[in-house]
Amino acid sequence: MYNRTMGRQSKILQYNLFNNSSLGFGRHSVNEFRWQERLGRKGPLVLELGCGKAEFSLEMARRHPEKRFIAVDVKADRLHKGCKATENASIKNLVFIQANILDLAEYLQPASVDFVWLTFPDPYPKKSQAKHRMLNYNFLDVYKTLLVYGGTVNLKTDNQVLFEWTLELLSARKDVRFKSISFDTETSFLNGDDVLIPTAFEQKYRALGVSTKYLSFSFE
Ligand SMILES: C[S@@+](CC[C@H](N)C(=O)[O-])C[C@H]1O[C@@H](n2cnc3c(N)ncnc32)[C@H](O)[C@@H]1O
Repeated sequence: MYNRTMGRQSKILQYNLFNNSSLGFGRHSVNEFRWQERLGRKGPLVLELGCGKAEFSLEMARRHPEKRFIAVDVKADRLHKGCKATENASIKNLVFIQANILDLAEYLQPASVDFVWLTFPDPYPKKSQAKHRMLNYNFLDVYKTLLVYGGTVNLKTDNQVLFEWTLELLSARKDVRFKSISFDTETSFLNGDDVLIPTAFEQKYRALGVSTKYLSFSFE
């Protein structure tokens, strides 16, 4: 029978496997910060932040071998599953960093990232939790620093309240230029568009009939 102790042991095992994987990077991994040796220096750099098991990045990397992908999450056990799937699919242009988004400047150069994807971030609905929302000003400062001029931030979410809060927050900023806004990606985009690649959370919400909201913007 599967119990809580087994669950914890399995997470510790996956944490250790992630830290020993050739695709896993982060403070505790054998590879530390050497992700560039694996991905090289050529090709647009795409980050998926709060990637979970990174189903979205995996499919993006498969579709776009000319781009370099980094999937980031604080949770090593989820990242380990992404690493395994990437190895099994023989995908060469995707690596994983275990880090808090707010610490990403330790791993990446300023003005080096072309695209940021925020895929179904935790909504943190309480006012007291607002500082954890991935589009709060402290997170926006990180994206603005890491992105090349004209680089794009993309957000996909099921959460209407988070989406409207984000729209309001971004609209109040003078340095933000919206590129695209949709309250239902399935009615706004064509089959084959990258934005329609489903994440694990997205599949769950779609099955419940909840639409995916999407926006993209750049900093001026
Ligand atoms: C709701 S899950 C979405 C996972 C995946 N993107 C999907 O759509 O299936 C949000 C993820 O964000 C990660 N996360 C939350 N805050 C983070 C932070 N500050 N830095 C890095 N990852 C974070 C969590 O660990 C979790 O895996």
